[in-house]
Amino acid sequence: MSAGRRITGFLPDDPEEEALAGPGLVIPSGPAAEGPLELSTDYLGLELRNPVVASASPLTGHLEGLQALDAAGVGAVVLPSLFEEQIAHEAEVSAELTHRESEAHPEATSGYTPALDDYNAGPHRYLRLVRDASATLSMPVIASLNGVTAGGWTRYAAMLADAGASAIELNVYRVAADLDVSGRQVEQETLELVEAVRAASRVPIAVKVGPHWSAFANMARRIADAGADGIVLFNRFYQPDIDVDRMAVEPHLVLSDSDELRLPLRWCAILHGRIDASLALTTGVHRGVDVVKGLLAGADVVMTTSSLLKHGPEHATVLIDHLRAWLEVRGYASVREMIGAVSQQKVPDPAAFERANYLATLTRYANERKGW
Ligand SMILES: Cc1cc2nc3c(=O)[nH]c(=O)nc-3n(C[C@H](O)[C@H](O)[C@H](O)COP(=O)(O)O)c2cc1C
Repeated sequence: MSAGRRITGFLPDDPEEEALAGPGLVIPSGPAAEGPLELSTDYLGLELRNPVVASASPLTGHLEGLQALDAAGVGAVVLPSLFEEQIAHEAEVSAELTHRESEAHPEATSGYTPALDDYNAGPHRYLRLVRDASATLSMPVIASLNGVTAGGWTRYAAMLADAGASAIELNVYRVAADLDVSGRQVEQETLELVEAVRAASRVPIAVKVGPHWSAFANMARRIADAGADGIVLFNRFYQPDIDVDRMAVEPHLVLSDSDELRLPLRWCAILHGRIDASLALTTGVHRGVDVVKGLLAGADVVMTTSSLLKHGPEHATVLIDHLRAWLEVRGYASVREMIGAVSQQKVPDPAAFERANYLATLTRYANERKGW
């Protein structure tokens, strides 16, 4: 290891900074490394100034938030998703207007919930946001589409690209609760959707998926083969809760913490260098050390939402500074050199990322607690 103190935070003796950096992060103690550090990375064929990306959230849904993230230095932003239901609803309304059927009640037929427009303002204003953001920001703007079935709505991929989006993120958020729908069918429909968006889009596409697949390595390769330029792993499913007083189900959104990093970390490590697609890690990136881990595992970019909602857009600068400090101490000249350095293909014990390590982990836990 090169010169540098091993400390628990970026600024020694500052507990707040220590918490933001995470355990094990090191800072340079001597003079800065020779030559400039290269923080840029390739993602979806785009060159990003650094690998810290603000993922889709209310913060990226308005120009003010996006400008604050730009000023904080993020490598790219992903806008909140425009939903299949919203697009389908808009198409229905246009059709109804064309036919002048004033008695129609389109919201009753589409499953559309008008509350969605409170989140991202609906298709028209979404396109305007893409246009304004692409024209004013100094980094790539990635628009997001959310849907599960291939259909006419996927034409929006072309409209988002025309509005200036550098890439499209297809957010496949699906809970396979239908007893008649098999895993094979879910996979097939997902791949058809990827193909449809690929065909409609002239800009790169990334596909954001949840972790619930029976054979994710194979599915990831098929998503890439279906035309995805990148895979974003993993979306975080919000689990409804039960209010026992009201005897009712209630939506429940809890922001993530760093403990949730390990699931996407494992899969980035397994997939790095093995599929023909960029990898973005999302979920659980809060501290400088989380950024470093994600890149070492093999992600081309790390995305964060919860940390920015908790600490504000300027937290992105803290994460980027921590990454720069780590590279300096470790003697790396660029982010590209470190990506995948601790991926499955590079480590002496590849089984550590798979089931083979299950027994060893359990045994170690039991041994550490002998005497209970
Ligand atoms: C309030 C909120 C809104 C979100 N909206 C979207 C969205 O519109 N589209 C999407 O793909 N992900 C959305 N996400 C998921 C985030 O982009 C991110 O993938 C997830 O929060 C996990 O990352 P984190 O651990 O950094 O929060 C949202 C998350 C939050 C907390």
